Amino acid sequence: MTMKRTHHCNELRIVHVGQTVTLCGWVHSRRDLGGVIFIDIRDREGRTQSVFDPSNLAAEVFDRAASLRSESVVAVTGRVRERPAGTENLRIETGRVEVVAAELEVLNEAAVLPFPVDDPEVASKVNEELRLQHRYLDLRRPEMVRNLRLRSKLAMATRQYFDGEGFLEVETPTLFKSTPEGAREFIVPCRQSPGQFYALPQSPQQFKQILMVAGIERYYQLARCYRDEDLRADRQPEFTQIDLEMSFIEREDIYRLIEGLLQRLWKAALGVDIPTPFARVPFAEVMDRYGIDKPDTRFGLELVDLTEEFRSSSFKVFSGAVAAGGVVKALNAKGLAGATQGQLETMTEYAKSFGAKGLAFIKVENGEWKAPMVKFFSADEKAALQQKLGIEEGDLILFAAGPWLTACEILGKIRLYCADVLKGQGKLDVPAGKFHFLWVVDFPLLSFDKEQNRWYSSHHPFTAPVAGDIPLLTSEPRKVRGQHYDIVVNGVELGGGSIRIHQPEIQKLIFEQVLQIPPDMVQARFGYMLDAFRYGAPPHGGIALGFDRLCAILCGSPSIRDVIAFPKTAKGTDLMTQSPAGVDPRQLRDLHLEVKVARKEQ
Ligand code: AMO
Ligand code: AMP
Repeated sequence: MTMKRTHHCNELRIVHVGQTVTLCGWVHSRRDLGGVIFIDIRDREGRTQSVFDPSNLAAEVFDRAASLRSESVVAVTGRVRERPAGTENLRIETGRVEVVAAELEVLNEAAVLPFPVDDPEVASKVNEELRLQHRYLDLRRPEMVRNLRLRSKLAMATRQYFDGEGFLEVETPTLFKSTPEGAREFIVPCRQSPGQFYALPQSPQQFKQILMVAGIERYYQLARCYRDEDLRADRQPEFTQIDLEMSFIEREDIYRLIEGLLQRLWKAALGVDIPTPFARVPFAEVMDRYGIDKPDTRFGLELVDLTEEFRSSSFKVFSGAVAAGGVVKALNAKGLAGATQGQLETMTEYAKSFGAKGLAFIKVENGEWKAPMVKFFSADEKAALQQKLGIEEGDLILFAAGPWLTACEILGKIRLYCADVLKGQGKLDVPAGKFHFLWVVDFPLLSFDKEQNRWYSSHHPFTAPVAGDIPLLTSEPRKVRGQHYDIVVNGVELGGGSIRIHQPEIQKLIFEQVLQIPPDMVQARFGYMLDAFRYGAPPHGGIALGFDRLCAILCGSPSIRDVIAFPKTAKGTDLMTQSPAGVDPRQLRDLHLEVKVARKEQ
């Protein structure tokens, strides 16, 4: 490289007119107009137009420009001039000027591209597999650069915030031990200990609690976590958490700390002031009103309880559910009476996937309540429906009768589906750029696994029960509330955490008597933690926010893949490096491993 860059490609303005400059970057686009060639040079910052005019340029320089391929890397030296009137491009910041090229150095010729990167319209339609395979080209797109830049800024602002709050950033191991509670793990064989394995951590949970025993008091980390679970738009097998833990605190201290962080990040990214404190809403209430533990509260369509109204109804589907200890709940999907057969079938399938026999609904059309079951409703029942659901012409009323949690979950799923349909029809306005935060609190500590016939931790086994509920742990586990909290925004679970158990005897009781893990297994899996807790564990608690989810929300991206430089596909593969992949038989021998499945040759 003989020419040294003087400016980046988003720097030149009218004040630079007359200066000789050198720009370095990629050939973004090239247009030949009447013998004059216009080349937009692009770098990370933006782009600038250069002009190659054969009438005042050495022929060889012009010829080099004429044969340049898109995305080749070049250095161009020339004089800045104001663009002639009428040729300005006000969509780009350098659009009032251009560089009249005198020299061109081709630093590297690019091969023909597998897909164009200069046109955002075209690029965003290119199949995602092809883009992931050539991620280095995909990342050249300005939106992707913008996302990575914002991610970097958010990481920096996070570190500054925690530093200011007296936290220490401590790295914890990523070669950890298998602790099969929670998601499935990735395991790592170990050459020096034949037949034994590390596991990649699902989170730094145990290390951060042990750091509290160590007296660190305030820990944070931008931590890599690994979970071998089924992937979706908001899940990756490796992802990043803003992870923290504090000693001598209560739930409210965590709420305030995180509210302060989110305020700082929203201001840094969007210049938006978010009001705090956020509402703290008990799990039972969010389920009752929204049917999901991460409600999108930007719109209403809330669930309504009709249990009392239908307790002695002659419509047996409802009164029978109540007699069996269940509830009757309904949702008024305002303006959706015109739902198609297909849409109603989709919703019925949702209900069935939760074990319901069906989904009762009423279409309110031509002044009539259309549904066979209406004939079983008494005048009082109809009046109650009318009053509680505010029924109007054009509404669709959907019902779920059964056990409380199931009925809530069915309508919760249907509520989101109806909201999508109504949004598509322009009947529900969910403004972009509006953020609804809330804390969901007072989760049940335990959930029951019918298949395995045992209790398991709703969050993780280190979460402390609400103090007054401790006596119920063995007698009525269902009723024990955990000191667990989730932070939710716009229907996304951004993070979760809890106040932890710090007394070894309660931790042991939870493992052995509540979760029914045999004592020798508790010792083998968690012995070091119980040991640590015997030597002076302070009361402590913490939380982890999904950093990728946070970035996706602030970038306005529908998928966390857009804010991760090198993400995996939904099948967990990296298309660029073609991993996972087989290994050399010698490596397997060194690890004392044998592969039994027949693998396709790579
Ligand atoms: P939890 O399992 O709730 O808690 O995870 C915290 C947050 O991490 C994000 N997250 C993910 N992001 C992307 N891909 C995934 N596969 C994925 N899984 C989780 C979510 C989630 O809210 N150790 C506890 C925290 C604590 O108790 O302090 C934990 O990991 O945004
Ligand atoms: P049936 O009398 O069994 O034909 O049911 C009458 C209506 O109630 C049908 O539309 C069913 O799909 C619906 N239904 C059945 N079980 C439930 C339930 N648990 N909750 C809500 N609707 C139901």
